[in-house]
Amino acid sequence: MPGADPLVELLMTNGFVAPDEEAAELRAAERDGNLEALVARRLTGEPLAWITGTVEFCGHAIRIDPGVYVPRWHTESLAQRAVQRMPGNGSGIDLCTGSGAIAAVLIAERGARMVGTDLDEQCVACARRNGVDARVADLYEGVPDTPVDVITGVVPYVPTADLPLLQRDTFAFETTLAYDGGTDGLDIARRAVEGARTRLRSGGALLLELGGSQAEQLDLDGFTDVSVLRDEEGDPRGIEATRR
Ligand SMILES: C[S@@+](CC[C@H](N)C(=O)[O-])C[C@H]1O[C@@H](n2cnc3c(N)ncnc32)[C@H](O)[C@@H]1O
Repeated sequence: MPGADPLVELLMTNGFVAPDEEAAELRAAERDGNLEALVARRLTGEPLAWITGTVEFCGHAIRIDPGVYVPRWHTESLAQRAVQRMPGNGSGIDLCTGSGAIAAVLIAERGARMVGTDLDEQCVACARRNGVDARVADLYEGVPDTPVDVITGVVPYVPTADLPLLQRDTFAFETTLAYDGGTDGLDIARRAVEGARTRLRSGGALLLELGGSQAEQLDLDGFTDVSVLRDEEGDPRGIEATRR
């Protein structure tokens, strides 16, 4: 077709589902004529955000360093719900913060005082660059025990046996640390709920991302108004619960 964009054609031929958008993002990330090198990286399946260094999340530009989990569109509904539950100048903990995307949105939109924790040093460094007070820690480890208004967590929740079912390229670039939730996928979520019993003030909100029917399997004793969070397509994506 005359006038067709060769970069868009190349991405399309290689199976990328949004070739126009990707071509535009790669071109915007080009520095000193390195477009060819950026495209070559993308053709290996490397996440686009690792190459461009940024992703849009809830309308905010979030910096993403190579190796750091890229926040997903389906997590936006959880972040938006957290914004609604956060009082002005309130406080929160973002468990398993990754790039700090959720915490960064709460800081930008609510002026929230947020602490983020992650086991991965690269993630913590990236979250700090996104303006989050992030620490290398296992869930609540080392976080001041003053009760907060909101706790968020996109914890790893894939059952170990299901890890091979994830997208083909996932573990060519990422480790299982961001995904592996143990036998039924709920090992870390259960610990997140347990800690929230003492870390949330009465009336405070717990928002956890989960998959499928996992919400029904969690013991949410001590919480009220438990509801399932759904994405734009109506699929269950997590739980929201209020501390009694
Ligand atoms: C699915 S990613 C979510 C990252 C981020 N919240 C987001 O939505 O983009 C899960 C993150 O949990 C971290 N992680 C795994 N186990 C953890 C633990 N026990 N304590 C803290 N962080 C953990 C991983 O390093 C990874 O960055």
